Parts: sequence; C-alpha cells; structure tokens
Amino acid sequence: MSSGRFAGKVVLVTGAGSGIGRATALAFAKEGADLVVCDVDEAKLDDVSSAARAQGRRVLARKVDVSSAAAMQSFADEVHAAFPAIDVLVNNAGVAVTGGLRDTTLEDWNWVMGINVMGVVHGCHFFVPRMIDRGRGGHVVNIASAAGFAGSRLLLAYSTTKFAVVGFSEALRADLRRHRIGVTAICPGFIRTNINEASRRHGRFAEPAALERSRRLMERGASPDLVAEKIMNAVEHDQGLVPVTAEAHLIYALKRSAPDLLATIWRRLEAWQAPEL
Ligand SMILES: NC(=O)c1ccc[n+]([C@@H]2O[C@H](COP(=O)([O-])OP(=O)(O)OC[C@H]3O[C@@H](n4cnc5c(N)ncnc54)[C@H](O)[C@@H]3O)[C@@H](O)[C@H]2O)c1
Repeated sequence: MSSGRFAGKVVLVTGAGSGIGRATALAFAKEGADLVVCDVDEAKLDDVSSAARAQGRRVLARKVDVSSAAAMQSFADEVHAAFPAIDVLVNNAGVAVTGGLRDTTLEDWNWVMGINVMGVVHGCHFFVPRMIDRGRGGHVVNIASAAGFAGSRLLLAYSTTKFAVVGFSEALRADLRRHRIGVTAICPGFIRTNINEASRRHGRFAEPAALERSRRLMERGASPDLVAEKIMNAVEHDQGLVPVTAEAHLIYALKRSAPDLLATIWRRLEAWQAPEL
C-alpha cells in the first residue's frame, strides 16, 4: 500500500519523457500515485517508467502522439480497460516554433497547433467524460506558459497556442465545476528543459549566434521540479491559473496593471534575443 499526498490516485501525464512532464510524473509517483504516461520518444518514456516502477508504482506507458485523435482514442481505450477513470490529467506535451509571421510556415502552424492546442483538447475529450461518469471528481492540469498572457513577436505561433490553452482552461473550469473536477492552467516562465532543442526555427533564428542566445536564456531557467511542485499544489488547492517563476508572476502582474511598461520590457528582451531584427 502506497503512502503520500496522492496515494491511491492515478495520474496521467502526456509528454512525460522529458523536462516538466518527466519531473511531474516522478513527483506524483514519489507522492504515491500510479502513473499513465505517454510520449512520442519511446526511449525517454522507458526511462521515466523504470524510475517510477523503482519507486513501487504501477505504470502504464504508451508511445502516443497527442495531436492524433485516433491514437488518443486507442490510448484512452487501453487506459480505461485498466482503470475505471484517471484522477488527475496533466496535458503537458508541447513544442515551440520560434519566429514571427514571415518565419512561420503553414506547416509549422499546423504542427504546433496540433500538439499544443489539439493535444490538450484530445486529452480532455478522451479522458474527462470517464471522470465525470465515475462521479468522484478529479483534476485537469493544462500546461500553458507565461507566453499565454503576453504575446511575443519571437514566439508568434507558440504564444497563439498558449493563449488558447489559457482560454480553454478558464472555460473548461467553469464547465466542469459542477462535476467537482478542477481545472488549472500552469504558466511557467523559463524552465531548463529540452524544449529549445525540439523547437522549430528557420533562417536567422537557426543561426549559431541565435541558438546560443536562446540556449543562454534557457540555462538561466528554473528547475522542472519547481513546476512539478506547483502542479501538485494546484491540484490540492484547486487553483485556476498559476504563474510559475518570478518572471511569470511579473509578466502576469504587469499585463493587468501596467501593460505599456510590460510592452517596453518585452521589446528590450526581444531586442536582446534577436538584435539583428
Ligand atoms: N521549458 C520552458 O521554459 C517552458 C515554459 C513554459 C511552458 N512550457 C511548456 O511545458 C510543456 C513541457 O515542455 P518542456 O519544456 O518540458 O519540453 P521538453 O521538450 O523537455 O518536453 C516535452 C516532451 O513532450 C514530448 N512530445 C512532443 N511532442 C509530442 C507529441 N506530439 N505527443 C506526445 N508527446 C510529445 C517530447 O518528446 C518531450 O518528451 C510544454 O507544453 C511547453 O510548452 C515550457
């Protein structure tokens, strides 16, 4: 019998192979939860599954692309054959596209919208109805970003997807309240993960100097463990929108109280990131 803050719960984390997803899956496992995890990277998925099993947890791990409705449907069928419903759904899988309008192809738009927006919708569509039917409540955590409340010209498509996740989460929270299912949008600032390596960038954004600046920025980021802890707190205290890291709190506060000042600061940061533009 496990013990811990989430003992006896089943927690599903998408994109659990790396970064925030990995830290979150292992944090819930450490707190007693059994895991359902998916990722497109099978080797990383095996690694996180072994680490959770070593803690004595049950783990159901599958290679799944969250942007595919068919793959998510099969995944949900398998999960619901093993568990009546999951207790906590963490829609974490995400990718980034760097650049503005002329740097972003339509193929990039479809890719990033498919994973960051439809991936989150698919998670909810295929897993929340079972939570509702079971009638024991639950929680949905959607990983948005500070880029979900302050648009950046260097992250045009990414910002678009994260604004969508923030809006979706707010509306879904109102929708699911009567079923005692909480919904949280987690909005981290800079976190040290592999997201940069996996991101799409073209032309001047793919040049070594630009990559190096981006790498330096991410290096200063916070640990994914911090995000994992904030996620667990948000579930326990049913928080709606949670900025994570000092810069995310600052951006959130300035956006509401001093948007012009935020725009000036943002322009400076963008000029440092892309001085040639
Ligand atoms: N790192 C940051 O600074 C930061 C800040 C704010 C928000 N976020 C968000 O946090 C989430 C996790 O990102 P991360 O920083 O840990 O990045 P990461 O690249 O380290 O991890 C993302 C994981 O998602 C998986 N993945 C990618 N596409 C997938 C798909 N189609 N289906 C299933 N899995 C897929 C990857 O294989 C990887 O294991 C993302 O939604 C990201 O937008 C990150």
